[in-house]
Amino acid sequence: MQSWTATAISCPNIAFIKYWGNRDEALHIPSNGSISMNLEGLFTRTQVAFTPALQSDQLTLNQQNIHGSPLERVSAILELVREMAAIKLFASVKSHNNFPTGAGIASSAAAFAALALAASRAAGLELDEQGLSRLARLGSGSACRSVPGGFVEWQAGDDNLSSFAQSIAPAGYWDLVDCVAVISQAHKPTSSLEGHALAGTSPLQAARLADTSRRLEICRQAILERDFAALAEIIELDSNLMHSVMMTSQPALFYWQPVTLEIMAQVAAWRRNGLPACYTVDAGPNVHVLCLGDHASQVKNRLLQIPGVKSVLTARTGGPARLIP
Ligand code: PMV
Repeated sequence: MQSWTATAISCPNIAFIKYWGNRDEALHIPSNGSISMNLEGLFTRTQVAFTPALQSDQLTLNQQNIHGSPLERVSAILELVREMAAIKLFASVKSHNNFPTGAGIASSAAAFAALALAASRAAGLELDEQGLSRLARLGSGSACRSVPGGFVEWQAGDDNLSSFAQSIAPAGYWDLVDCVAVISQAHKPTSSLEGHALAGTSPLQAARLADTSRRLEICRQAILERDFAALAEIIELDSNLMHSVMMTSQPALFYWQPVTLEIMAQVAAWRRNGLPACYTVDAGPNVHVLCLGDHASQVKNRLLQIPGVKSVLTARTGGPARLIP
């Protein structure tokens, strides 16, 4: 008998070269390619059950019933899966995050990667990694990067088929650790979904895009050669470029808080004084501080001493989205 239930687990990812702005808003075809690292130990676990008794799709996140636009985004992916599998059943989706949602730790990336895998498998489909990455991308762009494992590059592509992510080096290839300085767990005021649509209103976006293939190349090489100094320089530049675009779009988006800037300044000073660490910030106030495994506890302790840092999550490089029993 065919099973209509599957459960998948997926890590969020932190972008080293950021995705900001779409060429196609509906399909999430990005304006530029991006590179990220999956975050081990932080996860979304999602169970999908296609059930004859249901009259509509249902979503619970961390045991709370969710309605409105998050449910609509999930339903849109379920609808694509139903079309591909030629089934008509509605599904219940039960999702659980073990990290704060909506505060610059890419919860939607882990969520849609786990949903793509669990929903397709529950419907009896066996999509390959590229197919899963494309499906996850339709839920949230950066989710396509949480499907493959380790260090991942999303080829921007120019249509639905050509836009997906692939691993450039496996988890464990390089002992990098992301120390996430959590300064707020509040939901961000402007979602990345709304933010992407504003990217083109900044006069700086064109300059950022024109220089992207250079930054991608430097970042890819830095990973492959395990060159921390080169990685540090390019990811801080890339983060600052994205935030410059955000701050100069109309309306302007400011995701940094005073503590965000304080951490960025301190991390840059640590590096000047010989501690290999660097920062990157997503669409939220929290700061991701990358360092080598040997220095992770020192970086964590230093971050915890900065007033305003509530906690520090640490994550090594995570594997691909996977099914669990
Ligand atoms: O996938 P989205 O729509 O949540 O966009 C992610 C945007 C950033 O996190 C700011 C950058 C990135 O590449 O992850």
